[in-house]
Amino acid sequence: MVNDAHTPTFENLHRERRTFKPAVGFAVHANARAYEYKKAGVDRLEYWREAAMRLAWHRPFTEILDWTDAPFARWFYDGTLNACDNAVDRHVREGRGDRVAFHFEGEPGDTQTLTYADMHERVQRAANGLASLGVRMGDRVAIYLPQIPEAVVAMLACARIGAIHSVVFGGFSAESLRQRIDDAEAKLVITADGGNRRGAHLALKPLVDEALAAGDHHPEECASVKNVLVVRRTGQDTAWTEGRDLWWHDVVDPQPADHEPVWVPAEHPLFILYTSGTTGTPKGLFHSTGGYLAGAAHTHRMVFDLKPETDVYWCTADVGWITGHSYIVYGPMTNGATQVLYEGTPDTPHRGRWWEIVEKYGVTIFYTAPTAIRTFMKWGEAIPDGYDLGSLRLLGSVGEPINPEAWMWHRRVIGGDRCPVVDTWWQTETGAIMISPLPGVTATKPGSAMTPMPGISVDVVDDAGVPVGPGEAGYLVITEPWPSMLRGIWADPVRYGRTYWNRFDGMYFAGDGAKKDVDGDLWLLGRIDDVMNVSGHRLTTTEIEHALVSHPWVAEAAVVGAQDEVTGQAVVAFVIVRQDADAVPTDGDEVAAALREHVRHEIGALARPRTILVVSEVPKTRSGKIMRRLLRDVAERRPVGDVTTLADSSVMDAIRDGLAAGTKD
Ligand code: WTA
Repeated sequence: MVNDAHTPTFENLHRERRTFKPAVGFAVHANARAYEYKKAGVDRLEYWREAAMRLAWHRPFTEILDWTDAPFARWFYDGTLNACDNAVDRHVREGRGDRVAFHFEGEPGDTQTLTYADMHERVQRAANGLASLGVRMGDRVAIYLPQIPEAVVAMLACARIGAIHSVVFGGFSAESLRQRIDDAEAKLVITADGGNRRGAHLALKPLVDEALAAGDHHPEECASVKNVLVVRRTGQDTAWTEGRDLWWHDVVDPQPADHEPVWVPAEHPLFILYTSGTTGTPKGLFHSTGGYLAGAAHTHRMVFDLKPETDVYWCTADVGWITGHSYIVYGPMTNGATQVLYEGTPDTPHRGRWWEIVEKYGVTIFYTAPTAIRTFMKWGEAIPDGYDLGSLRLLGSVGEPINPEAWMWHRRVIGGDRCPVVDTWWQTETGAIMISPLPGVTATKPGSAMTPMPGISVDVVDDAGVPVGPGEAGYLVITEPWPSMLRGIWADPVRYGRTYWNRFDGMYFAGDGAKKDVDGDLWLLGRIDDVMNVSGHRLTTTEIEHALVSHPWVAEAAVVGAQDEVTGQAVVAFVIVRQDADAVPTDGDEVAAALREHVRHEIGALARPRTILVVSEVPKTRSGKIMRRLLRDVAERRPVGDVTTLADSSVMDAIRDGLAAGTKD
């Protein structure tokens, strides 16, 4: 897997000299304190025990960690609790019901203000609604919704009855949805007629219909699904399967707003979330209830310095990704945060929409992705300058390595040079932030995620698993179990051990390259496996290759992630068309357009290649392995590197000639 290693060489990064010390005014009120590192260093388990004790437990735990069956961990395992009770009921119970949980802003401009008491009412009705459809503890529920309050309510209602949600991002295709429903054997799918996207109605329900119907790829219907529960969002016409499809408002609204949460053991799975791994099929990672919630809530409080009475927090991620799970739903709500939830894109109806929202709600904490920041840089600072962003006091970044220029721009233009910037490294697998500065404590360097969180043990090792020295690059590993770690891959325990724990004995291997600088601070270098990071979304080369090859015109495909100024990486595909296929257009652009559409249909718009090059051959080693390194050189328009291991070294000349002949982006 790591043979064809691709470690972007950010050569100058560890020589970064700029540092930003915490402002005294911020530090005196900060949630995080420097002694936490020491405390966690002295007794890591006690540190996590205290963090978990902040949750509301139904039966308090007495055990902290069981690691005897490593790499299968159990944390706080003799306790019982409910994640929805922590995120919602507790605030009402403790007199915080009037606090706003969400300022919801729909893309067309419709708004809703939902207090914790409102959320309490909604989750109870929804929980009763799900129960009325026969959904029980341990059942799986697929959620395929736009970024609307019902998405949060649906997740929490599942948690409330002990059902396991599997949220599928609304940008995924019917085929991707079908795979995920099938793998988890979901009993119920919760969707909407559609959502709003760039001023248009994007249909969702027809994709669910397509996913559930028998089709070319899959002769069997998704037999596990009993019902489809449909939220009315756009009001567009929707085909209906009687007996299976039900409106959310018909099922949920008449239910009593009275429901006792199901108290589950701490290790009960809270959710499954599918993510790209190094093979073609996405992995259904699952997380626990107690450890996950402890990790999400604790890191949220520390890294974002949340003051729940006064802050207005906005994480721009979609709830369909782990960032939305941990830092919109479970972490912030457990901490009683007031949040902004926005349905749409940053440029609808104009490029100042996000800043208009910051100004309108007085957002104080703002968490976004480098790809968004780079887009705003491209659009120019006059746009954010047109709004009052004076309410902001802390900025976060997640999803991919943030370039020092983007970090500086974020700090200066959005944060007015007064807000700490926290670059947070973590993964779907880790459940919560693993590496980040602590605001008010850590002096930051632009582009560095700095140090592991207190209680988290991270290292950078070489091929043999030996820690590298200062200034050296290697593989990022986590050396001790942590509460919010994934508990496994759904229905595939063997793959879990093999994927994460076998590369380096007894250490969790993240798949990322990293470098320690002379001060020991960490610089993330991107994935070293076949996982690409496109606008902060994880995709594998293999899944896109599979999608391309499933098209009748394509004989073979090789996909690489090429560096891209805005999206971080972009999908570039090299395809060989079949000689025997009927009616293949001779025009490469026409082939490319059809194949891009095909990938959109198979996986989703997020996987659509930026560039497709029709070639006569792809470079391979003598053992038949595609040499992606060379293709990446071509895609990034660099001189092609060492070709001595190629089976046929003239292949690269042919590809280069083909490129020169004018196939373009
Ligand atoms: C990358 C998203 C550098 C990394 C929370 C990781 C980052 C993958 C950062 C996980 C960061 C995430 N700096 N790289 N601050 N944050 N990554 O599962 O390659 O969607 O392995 O989780 O994103 O992506 P995932």
